[in-house]
Amino acid sequence: MKLTIIGCGYLGATHAACMAELGHDVLGMDADMDKVRVLNSGKAPFYEPGLDDLLAKHTASGRLKFTASYAEAARFGELHFIGVGTPQQAAENAYDLTHLFSAIRRLATHLLGPAVVAVKSTVPVGTAAHVAKILEESAPAGGKVQVAWNPEFLRESSAIEDTLRPDRLVLGFDSEQSWGEAVLRQCFRKIIEAGTPTIVTDWATAELAKTSANSFLATKISFINAMAEVCEATGADVHELAEILGHDVRIGRSGMRPGLGFGGGCLPKDLRGFLARAGELGVDRALTFLHEIDAINNGRRERMVALVREQLGDTLASRRITIWGAAFKPGTDDIRDSPALAVAQGLHELGATVTVSDPKALDNARKHHPELGHVEDPVAAARGADLLLHLTEWPQFRHVDPERLARRVRTAKVIDGRGTLDLGSWRRAGWTVRALGRA
Ligand code: UDX
Repeated sequence: MKLTIIGCGYLGATHAACMAELGHDVLGMDADMDKVRVLNSGKAPFYEPGLDDLLAKHTASGRLKFTASYAEAARFGELHFIGVGTPQQAAENAYDLTHLFSAIRRLATHLLGPAVVAVKSTVPVGTAAHVAKILEESAPAGGKVQVAWNPEFLRESSAIEDTLRPDRLVLGFDSEQSWGEAVLRQCFRKIIEAGTPTIVTDWATAELAKTSANSFLATKISFINAMAEVCEATGADVHELAEILGHDVRIGRSGMRPGLGFGGGCLPKDLRGFLARAGELGVDRALTFLHEIDAINNGRRERMVALVREQLGDTLASRRITIWGAAFKPGTDDIRDSPALAVAQGLHELGATVTVSDPKALDNARKHHPELGHVEDPVAAARGADLLLHLTEWPQFRHVDPERLARRVRTAKVIDGRGTLDLGSWRRAGWTVRALGRA
């Protein structure tokens, strides 16, 4: 098939490369010319494992191209995926849909014949109808343009695997007899034939699928982090508790790692966007618990700052603190709502001199947090530190030798915010050790 993807960020660029891998002819469209140039050279403008290889393979095979022109995208094929960002509004909890509606409008003016517009961007429930109205009013093809809702559940760091072998496919339409369904089934034929559960539903259910899935995942994480607080107060160990709970198949172990809480471009914003939409719909009481989920999550960052003050005293001026971790999670260079950087910024505001270390996210951290020090090598980053914070699940930090490190720092004090350091070996190497979720 010939298809396009409008918006080539983490979601869109990955989707474009994966659709080419499935055998389609793909045109990715993004308004950012620099991004288009990098993508056309077969590289990703961000770090995602395996994506450079896939982009290089398919820009070379001729199955994948990128453009900044809506007109070219509209002419290219009859299936257009929309993957533009829907961030949180600057001063509100609600989603900012400006980019989405503007992309739809600009594409619409060039749609001269039948087409399917399949939206993957995460939105408040009710947006599909609005998108359909814009298309009907602005596209010369009018009613011949169909809207399909196809939420995307990929996780950064395993985005290719999640796209090519998803847990499920969700396809939302406004009527049971939609020719758009046949178009999308053809597009995803290989994935469907591999046995992927495929749920065809209405627009509202498809829209809700994404925000409710992310709210559930956030709830699971905040639940175990609430237990971490109880553990800290009682001498229990939250990591062992999580394992015990996880053996119950009704609860499950995955997505319930305690630590500094969730961040990134999705979970925090989807919780808040969902709450805002529930308010508009008059069902906010049903979702009040999500406020608490958000508050527990922010509480872990505050708790980390409190632990630092416990270790170093209230006056942090002239104190040197090294933070391992800048990305919001391992396997990405994405620093959106990064818990580690939120702690770093908080400590900087309290007067500390803070240096962060991360294998992939330092360029982004430098750009958005010039007030911090940035050193890639974990050992060099800790030179002269009064305190080390382990705030990441990147595995390489776990393998640093605590004995060697003890000789570089000013004071051998560490706080483990992720629960993955072998604390026994750190203690034996002379470190004073504290951890979230452990007495
Ligand atoms: C998430 C959803 O998983 C994905 O389905 C959706 O499409 C987009 O949002 P992503 O943001 O890439 O994906 O990351 P995810 O792996 O879900 O982690 C989100 C955050 O939760 C990270 O900050 C991570 O460190 C944290 N997390 C995750 C935990 O603290 N504990 C866990 O057990 C799992």
